[in-house]
Amino acid sequence: MFKHIIEDHLDIRILELRHAEQLFDLVSCNQDYLAEWLPWVKGNNTIDHTKGFIEAALQKFANNDGIDCGVFFNDRIAGCISLHRLDWLNKKTSIGYWLDESLQGKGIMTKACRAMINYSFHDLQLNRIEIRAGVNNLKSRTIPERLGFDLEGTIRKAEWVNNRYIHHVVYGLLKEDWKNE
Ligand SMILES: CC(C)(COP(=O)(O)OP(=O)(O)OC[C@H]1O[C@@H](n2cnc3c(N)ncnc32)[C@H](O)[C@@H]1OP(=O)(O)O)[C@@H](O)C(=O)NCCC(=O)NCCS
Repeated sequence: MFKHIIEDHLDIRILELRHAEQLFDLVSCNQDYLAEWLPWVKGNNTIDHTKGFIEAALQKFANNDGIDCGVFFNDRIAGCISLHRLDWLNKKTSIGYWLDESLQGKGIMTKACRAMINYSFHDLQLNRIEIRAGVNNLKSRTIPERLGFDLEGTIRKAEWVNNRYIHHVVYGLLKEDWKNE
């Protein structure tokens, strides 16, 4: 199905049920590190949960309402990147992502985001992309900052994660400002 090659050894692919075992294992290995910022991680206790997530993701894609991809490094799933929902009326979407802890620091997610941005603006003809991150999630915030998003504001107590409310920062990128092809 959908596969986009970013460079040698790095591509993104739409998630399918055959990826469930690898994805479940990856999340399990990264449980504590991911749970700091991602509320769904603690509930990801069985392979059925992962299968349910992939089934819902495929349904969302079929409904033209978003896409969930695996980020593959050396042909192994290394993380995920998603367009959460497609707001066709306002031609906008938002990107979410996470990466295997041991594969941080190589620019993998920045490159995957660049590919998703090009897909959103060129293929889907959207006009605006948002990325939200926890105020203190500096690794995540660096990605939109590196890609030229504008910091547009803060949403207080936006999410209950890991037994505390976190504030979100909102970054936005408009098609007319996207030069980073
Ligand atoms: C957020 C997350 C994906 C960031 O991972 P990351 O490896 O820092 O991000 P990137 O893949 O873009 O890599 C950037 C790093 O690679 C380095 N790098 C190397 N080559 C690079 C390149 N060609 N381009 C960009 N960066 C490059 C950068 O200097 C940076 O390293 P630094 O953090 O030591 O300064 C990861 O920390 C994560 O999954 N965290 C937990 C889940 C989470 O918080 N998700 C986001 C919720 S909003």
